[in-house]
Amino acid sequence: KEALQIALDGPAGAGKSTIAKSLAKQLGYVYIDTGAIYRAVTYRALNEGINLEDGPALSKMIENMSIRLVPSDQGQRVFDGDEEVTDVIRSSEVTNNVSFVARQPEVRDALMDLQRDLAKHGGVVMDGRDIGTHVLPNADLKVFMTASVEERARRRHEENVSKGIPSDYEKLKEEIALRDKRDSEREVAPLRQAEDAHYLDTTTLSIDGVVLAIERLIEEVK
Ligand code: C5P
Repeated sequence: KEALQIALDGPAGAGKSTIAKSLAKQLGYVYIDTGAIYRAVTYRALNEGINLEDGPALSKMIENMSIRLVPSDQGQRVFDGDEEVTDVIRSSEVTNNVSFVARQPEVRDALMDLQRDLAKHGGVVMDGRDIGTHVLPNADLKVFMTASVEERARRRHEENVSKGIPSDYEKLKEEIALRDKRDSEREVAPLRQAEDAHYLDTTTLSIDGVVLAIERLIEEVK
């Protein structure tokens, strides 16, 4: 088989994007970070002062957006119309508000076609929360990647420190745990392992170790 659809789901900070980028590069596939779509919507809603729990108002706003995910050497660039939002959607304000927006059914509905469209020709590694369960239920390979919350906070903290961004480990741990709780407890498309997904706990694995483990799984489905 060629041009597989690979679904990579899991909680915040599990390393999905790092792994997905690396796999996509090796396979010559496109990396699609679906969290960026929810982030772009949250960013715009915050700017426009729209209530983040008003699903109908958000879906109306989305109708007037033109969200584009453009593959790049660094992974993926994100545009809302002509405005590039790749970096601004990573702010802690967006990060700490995105799961309110993402739990509105109208928002998830409005973003489904865009995500499926991006994956329809295959040759994609798509990372998110509900890719294996809802967006691509027939994906060729599904991996549910996780790690302890301590380890995920530690990795994010080290990443911040290495980039010179101010960082507080305890606060990160709290924020990650809260976002996971909201993402897992929502009614529509909660963060959950698909029945046919492979479970991968990366707590004690290196990046290369995780990539290797998934490459083996890919060989099995090819
Ligand atoms: O992956 P990332 O941390 O950028 O995702 C940001 C947020 O977007 C998640 O916490 C979740 O609320 C939402 N999300 C989602 N479904 C996806 C991807 C992301 O609900 N497929």
